[in-house]
Amino acid sequence: MSFENRVVVVIGASGVVGSGVVRKYLDAGATVVGVSRSASKLEQLTQQMKIQSSEPFISVVGDFKDEASAREAKKAVATALQGKPIDHVVSVQGFVSYAKAPTSTPPEELKAALDDGLFNNLLAAKAFLPELKEREGSSFTLVSGGLAHIPPPNISLWLGTVKNAALNALTLALAAETANDKVRLNTLCIHFAVAPLGGDKNQFGLTAEGDTLRLAPAFLGVARGTQKGQLLCLNSFADAEKLSVR
Ligand SMILES: NC(=O)c1ccc[n+]([C@@H]2O[C@H](COP(=O)([O-])OP(=O)(O)OC[C@H]3O[C@@H](n4cnc5c(N)ncnc54)[C@H](OP(=O)(O)O)[C@@H]3O)[C@@H](O)[C@H]2O)c1
Repeated sequence: MSFENRVVVVIGASGVVGSGVVRKYLDAGATVVGVSRSASKLEQLTQQMKIQSSEPFISVVGDFKDEASAREAKKAVATALQGKPIDHVVSVQGFVSYAKAPTSTPPEELKAALDDGLFNNLLAAKAFLPELKEREGSSFTLVSGGLAHIPPPNISLWLGTVKNAALNALTLALAAETANDKVRLNTLCIHFAVAPLGGDKNQFGLTAEGDTLRLAPAFLGVARGTQKGQLLCLNSFADAEKLSVR
């Protein structure tokens, strides 16, 4: 699957999921802009994913914590691309922490989870969708998790349920907004643990049957696919692999 001459922006590029997405898009020939709040995390990403200086990878430090920062981040991406249009955006920001029971959790923890995992993704959509709406063959992909659909198996994971359920609801609203536009907006709702490169556990210590590089081809499949406005629930790496085959 070739993405030569395609430009992809990955927001949350330094994260577990985002890092594999960056690597796989580079392998497929795309020009990739990786956005993180931290220059040193972007440097670690290039080392971890063995990104060579000859590869078309552009690091951009940016934050989507508020509208002004999001506008700055979008501007930094546009400047780095020197006018090249963007074809695909993956916004994969935020991961919740373990928490106490809901009424014992400081409300700030819920606010932080929603700021990082919901609000930032909305601001990324607000920054990039206007350009993508007009672009043939473009896509915008969000990422949520299966905790959205189930009572947390462990009450300490309830922030994940709230954050992911909200993100899934946001997907449907953004899908309605973009129904008549060229961009295909979808969310991959991942119902299993994904490990960092070469690992076998995710950040919660849950056993993962695969790492980020095993999941990432699903993102390329969605970018090249026909799905539009869908919440795509993946129950296993096998489901991810099915999406990748196009
Ligand atoms: N890992 C899993 O097992 C798993 C399983 C199912 C679903 N998911 C879902 O996948 C998504 C990502 O998870 P992950 O495991 O990749 O988490 P992660 O490793 O913590 O990565 C999240 C990324 O979000 C970025 N971020 C947070 N706030 C930001 C902001 N204000 N501006 C820009 N970037 C920001 C962070 O980037 P910087 O700190 O570099 O800025 C980080 O790279 C979440 O929705 C999660 O629920 C993950």
